[in-house]
Amino acid sequence: MCSRVLFVFLASVAVLAEAGVTCDLTTQPATWARVIAKNVFFNAYEPDNYFATPGFCVNNDFMIHSLNYSSHVNLADPTAQMKHDRATNTNFTDSLINCGQNISQVQWCQSHCANKQLEQLIVSTAVINGSLPLATAQQVFQTMGSPNDTSIAAVQVDLYANDLHIDYDYFDDANFCSVFVKVKNPTQFPYALFITVQKILGL
Ligand SMILES: *[C@@H]1O[C@H](CO)[C@@H](O)[C@H](O)[C@H]1NC(C)=O
Ligand SMILES: *[C@@H]1O[C@H](CO)[C@@H](O)[C@H](O)[C@H]1NC(C)=O
Ligand SMILES: *[C@@H]1O[C@H](CO)[C@@H](O)[C@H](O)[C@H]1NC(C)=O
Ligand SMILES: *[C@@H]1O[C@H](CO)[C@@H](O)[C@H](O)[C@H]1NC(C)=O
Ligand SMILES: *[C@@H]1O[C@H](CO)[C@@H](O)[C@H](O)[C@H]1NC(C)=O
Repeated sequence: MCSRVLFVFLASVAVLAEAGVTCDLTTQPATWARVIAKNVFFNAYEPDNYFATPGFCVNNDFMIHSLNYSSHVNLADPTAQMKHDRATNTNFTDSLINCGQNISQVQWCQSHCANKQLEQLIVSTAVINGSLPLATAQQVFQTMGSPNDTSIAAVQVDLYANDLHIDYDYFDDANFCSVFVKVKNPTQFPYALFITVQKILGL
């Protein structure tokens, strides 16, 4: 018990010390998908030793409520073009919905996923495993069979923060999937998660 607590403590110190790792975004091919988030909540990654994961970098600054991460996406179709979108906590009033239609707990959902099976897995896991990003990231990764060429990031979106936005790059490609979903389970408070799953170069 004690040694486990100590381990968790040491592990978080290591994460804080290493979390500034920055990728060289000029490394070719030019398939770096960036996520730049402001005023979000909690975040989690798989594999969780992301600071030792080539092609995947996280910059977190709790003091300025800023979270950025970059993924060197291994495109299935090398000609796929990078596109951009912005997620906010005011989007939920819009009627737009292109995922999670068959899940009654999903109140709103927007995805950029060529792989609809993966999209379905992410949405249903976000509903089943709840608001904590780590449980959703871990469960998606595990269900996928812990692939050694894939990274996952999950961000819990504060439903009430002012000036919350996530500016992100995406590809309409089988090896990239983003899901922004708002969930309301009976007897629980609503929550929203922004999740990306990507195959990464250099793993
Ligand atoms: C994230 O990127 C934005 C825009 O480039 C920058 O202003 C901000 O300082 C970055 N945050 C971190 C934690 O590096
Ligand atoms: C969400 O809101 C932002 C800011 O208003 C907007 O740029 C973006 O297009 C919206 N996304 C959707 C899917 O409506
Ligand atoms: C939703 O369910 C209907 C009926 O079972 C099915 O035809 C449809 O393909 C499902 N849609 C998705 C996105 O799973
Ligand atoms: C996700 O939820 C399922 C069903 O409750 C549970 O069996 C599983 O352990 C959860 N996964 C994680 C990583 O917490
Ligand atoms: C990753 O997994 C594949 C297939 O399971 C395997 O062939 C490959 O050797 C693994 N690579 C590393 C670096 O572990």
